[in-house]
Amino acid sequence: MNSVIHHTFSPALSSSASSLIGQNKFTEIRMQNVYLPGKGSSRVAVKCVASPSVEQTAYTTKVARNENLAKLQAGYLFPEIARKRAAHMLKYPDAKVIPLGIGDTTERIPEVITTAMAERAKALSTKKGYSGYGAEQGEKQLRAAIASTFYQNLGIEEDDIFVSDGAKSDISRLQVLFGSKVSMAVQDPSYPAYVDSSVILGQTGLYQKDVERFAKIEYMRCTPENDFFPDLSNVARTDIIFFCSPNNPTGSAASREQLTQLVQFAKDNGSIIVYDSAYAMYVSEDKPRSIFEIPGAEEVALEVSSFSKYAGFTGVRLGWTVVPKQLKYSDGFPVANDFNRIVCTAFNGASNIAQAGGLACLSPEGIKAMHEVVGFYKENTKIIMDTFNSLGFNVYGGVNAPYVWVHFPGRSSWEVFGEILEKTHVVTTPGSGFGPAGEGFVRVSAFGNRENVLEACKRFKELYK
Ligand SMILES: Cc1ncc(COP(=O)(O)O)c(C=O)c1O
Repeated sequence: MNSVIHHTFSPALSSSASSLIGQNKFTEIRMQNVYLPGKGSSRVAVKCVASPSVEQTAYTTKVARNENLAKLQAGYLFPEIARKRAAHMLKYPDAKVIPLGIGDTTERIPEVITTAMAERAKALSTKKGYSGYGAEQGEKQLRAAIASTFYQNLGIEEDDIFVSDGAKSDISRLQVLFGSKVSMAVQDPSYPAYVDSSVILGQTGLYQKDVERFAKIEYMRCTPENDFFPDLSNVARTDIIFFCSPNNPTGSAASREQLTQLVQFAKDNGSIIVYDSAYAMYVSEDKPRSIFEIPGAEEVALEVSSFSKYAGFTGVRLGWTVVPKQLKYSDGFPVANDFNRIVCTAFNGASNIAQAGGLACLSPEGIKAMHEVVGFYKENTKIIMDTFNSLGFNVYGGVNAPYVWVHFPGRSSWEVFGEILEKTHVVTTPGSGFGPAGEGFVRVSAFGNRENVLEACKRFKELYK
């Protein structure tokens, strides 16, 4: 099977790639698949989303570039990894490259879910079954099912749930909600969307190369030394605190005691926690799956979550955000009312077909099927953890998340990423791409088919024996 990677062409790749695709004809390859050489499953289509090269567009408008976008660094982490992978494929056209980098799902969506989506899609061709725009907040039945499945007895009700096209979109919508004047804190390392959306909104200063941070963001260091939970006595007050548990990339899940401290910290400071629970179903230990398990959290927290990693919905696109009525701004105005306004203005509601799939996910068979999907990736995680443990590495995460965080003390993450790619043809993710505290670590994703995971682990054993 051919795999597709999305790739934004950069001048760095243009010289090598252009021999395959014509001389710098970037405008002509927009959104086409370009096949890099390779055999069988190693044949890769690079989906080009190229911008016209500067020379080809002599005309310029009089519109100034958004200075906040100019602050962003070279590229979002994953396009940069895709660029390196594409360059590797050019160098080793016959290699079987195994992607354990980006956290994209690989297993098929359970049939009970696709059947519901197919039926909904078919009904759209009938007079009775057709529906156009739906409620911007999501279908009532789905909102109720999310509330009762994930937040039963936690005080969260149907009208606190806003259904969306995924957690990532909601993270950006939340930034629009808060505006450019708020200050924010993130776990270091963390999922890059929090920092990048904050920069785009203008909440930060410039990127400071020497410390590898943006000015005006509070980076909360999370390392093995502090059990991947920040020392809150050293964290400055901010308006917003992004907190992801189980965490991407470290794979660690915060305990009840730790989250109780976090909620108290937010309360003492009058801050709002944006809690990302996209991996909650991966929790195996006795640890919270929602911030709302912590008493009082409804006054200081909202929560984003997603079907992406439970049901293979990374392509279908469906998530939700919980904004409790009790969460208020300093003037007493409910945050949910403003979020509703943002959702109505910037989003017209999730796809009706995707929502039918979401509802099927939350049926008894759907829940069972999602547990099977999650269980499969958890088996992959164990295989990867056992491999690195057997090789004598310090390995973190994995138990409550589909990510394994491997320590290479004293080494640069990008260097290790390069070594693994060069010698094993396995794509991982360099830890420093998630923040300065990720330096010296590499994230190995457990999203992959079993054959690939086993083969990758065999190659890791050969490299590091
Ligand atoms: C922590 C975290 N939040 C959110 C997302 C995005 O989820 P979605 O596919 O719903 O946009 C991801 C995806 O990798 C993630 O790791």
